[in-house]
Amino acid sequence: MENISYTNISGLFARTRCVPVVVLKTLEDTLPTLKALCDYGIPTAEITFRTACAADAIRLGREQLPDMLIGAGTVINAAQARAAIEAGAQFIVSPGIGADIAEVCREADIPYIPGCVTPAEIMQALSLGITTVKFFPANVYGGMDAIKALSAPFPQVRFVPTGGVDSGNLDEFLACDKIAAVGGSFFVKLALQKSGK
Ligand code: 3PG
Repeated sequence: MENISYTNISGLFARTRCVPVVVLKTLEDTLPTLKALCDYGIPTAEITFRTACAADAIRLGREQLPDMLIGAGTVINAAQARAAIEAGAQFIVSPGIGADIAEVCREADIPYIPGCVTPAEIMQALSLGITTVKFFPANVYGGMDAIKALSAPFPQVRFVPTGGVDSGNLDEFLACDKIAAVGGSFFVKLALQKSGK
């Protein structure tokens, strides 16, 4: 991917504007899950650090499926960010915002998408040079209404709503130009169902 960096992520999710949140119980699940997403038409994965195999799964995915966009999710400290980047993660996502994680991503010059749901958190992101944030859990923090309200003082910010996003409200989010992409585990369920797994 060209021109994607810590400060320029406008093209990162341009392909599908969908970010499947992937939780892998074992490393063996990695390739079947990622291939199912590709076959489903979403060659993107946010592999979460909720399970121990996350870094190895990212490494495997990047080696075997070089055309996929593979990032790390649920990154909650700098050590995890370093491990993810070392494994080849192309972007880092956190449920909240961590200045230490931002520093690691800035040094590696890869995108960091921190979770921000309040004006104070968005201001912190802006001070770190970040203008695309995860909005999580979107269903709890007011969904599209909240995003529209936050867009008034922060017109430069783009959001990635995640948490409670599903087939029922996906289109409402994607219709808004403030939405960089939508994230969710439901993409993975749908892709695996379609693949018969
Ligand atoms: C995340 O980490 O982004 C969320 O847990 C995903 O939420 P969902 O399972 O409601 O899509």
